[in-house]
Amino acid sequence: MGRAFAYVILGGGVAAGYAALEFVRRRSDGAAGELCIISDETVAPYERPALSKGYLSPEGGARLPAFHTCAGANDQLLTNNWYREHGIELILGTKVISVDVRRKTLFTSAGETISYATLIVATGARALKLEEIGGNGSDAENVCYLRNLEDADKLIRVMRSCPGGDAVVIGGGYIGMECAAALVANNIKVTIVFPGKHCMENLFTPKIAEFYENYYASKGVTFIKGTVVSSLAISSGKVTTAILRDGRRLPADMVVVGIGARANTALFEGQLVMEKGGIKVSGQMRTSDASVYAVGDVAAFPVKLLGAEVRRLEHVDCARRTARHAVAAALDSSGATGDIDYLPFFYSRVFALSWKFYGDNTGKAVHFGDLDFSASSSSKPKFGALWVSAGRIAGAFLEGGSPEEYEAIAHAVRRGTAVPDVAVLARQGLAFIVQE
Ligand code: FDA
Repeated sequence: MGRAFAYVILGGGVAAGYAALEFVRRRSDGAAGELCIISDETVAPYERPALSKGYLSPEGGARLPAFHTCAGANDQLLTNNWYREHGIELILGTKVISVDVRRKTLFTSAGETISYATLIVATGARALKLEEIGGNGSDAENVCYLRNLEDADKLIRVMRSCPGGDAVVIGGGYIGMECAAALVANNIKVTIVFPGKHCMENLFTPKIAEFYENYYASKGVTFIKGTVVSSLAISSGKVTTAILRDGRRLPADMVVVGIGARANTALFEGQLVMEKGGIKVSGQMRTSDASVYAVGDVAAFPVKLLGAEVRRLEHVDCARRTARHAVAAALDSSGATGDIDYLPFFYSRVFALSWKFYGDNTGKAVHFGDLDFSASSSSKPKFGALWVSAGRIAGAFLEGGSPEEYEAIAHAVRRGTAVPDVAVLARQGLAFIVQE
């Protein structure tokens, strides 16, 4: 059995959805029969960040179809009907088990061979398992990961099975922090364990982290830092206790694991050039094979703003923009599409808080705003940091900003606003940029 398409998108996540919309917009003659999306998920592409936010709300949680792509960019909502109406073949619940790049063919778990003229790889990333870092327990009934809808449904089921119970969250990155906030909202007591000195170690400064950790503590969350869960004690298929390296034992009705992700590159190892744990692409998102593009979490691409340094960014905005750029390049027969000019952007929302980060957190961090948390402080705190590197603003973090302020910090990072005197920036804080 075999089918052939001019364009195939492998993977059905955020990048796939945005690529499909871009495809339709650029093809006034229609996409009918030309494009197919193959995904091992059973639903059409959706906005993955919703899974750790609205989807976990105790009441009236977000549900599909409301957060299919491209709802997250306030654009069209691509439901199954949308794909049908545009003649895009959506092959769902189907895993691609191997790819032959030289022959331009994919082989699926359903035994089908699909050939392409152009392939867009949008396989994203997978959650790293405890076993991969020497731990155990991933298969236990009450151990949860969070990467896809199935994971989110399990998390909800497990939360609901132990109201008022104890959760151990392993990992202090954004998955751990967002899940912890959701667990609290669902009336679960949370202890977060991670090896670092503070939460969100790759992004937050110690001062910024202190604010969030104090905020979480005010909601009843306990932090255990500088150690790891070395094993999980399991009885009748369920974890009962998390045992720390220092011997401490934490009772657990459930465990949520957020210890990082790995790009899904396995299908292309030995066939495409890899870098930074992902598939290396050019500024047009083209891989080492001219017929194959890679986008989203799986792609390592040159970031112009950072002197064309190759980065792999596991951020939703990056998935959206790289997907659009790849489609623009793939459909451009003149070859005039330039290199992507991407401004790295990441955001998170927890409890009543919400922050955005632009650029690169290198250089000296200059803080501003209400960074001293106390339970009595403002319910809408505003603070942040600006990173100054080689006399210019390289990165900006802002909690509680207005749309204009976010726009201003993005602009300052994009143009690399000069900072002749760091002391002036430290005194003026956000005003230094907003008045600019
Ligand atoms: P994505 O993972 O979305 O899609 C990959 C798709 O490929 C999946 O459908 C997968 O099943 C499929 N696939 C993989 N291998 C396959 C195979 N062999 N055969 C068939 N299908 C295959 N970012 C941010 O900036 N702010 C935020 O707040 C959040 N929040 C957040 C929460 C949670 C819970 C997660 C998991 C992630 C985030 N992110 C985020 C990150 C963001 O969601 C992520 O960067 C994008 O989803 C990446 O989009 P991709 O399309 O590259 O991968």
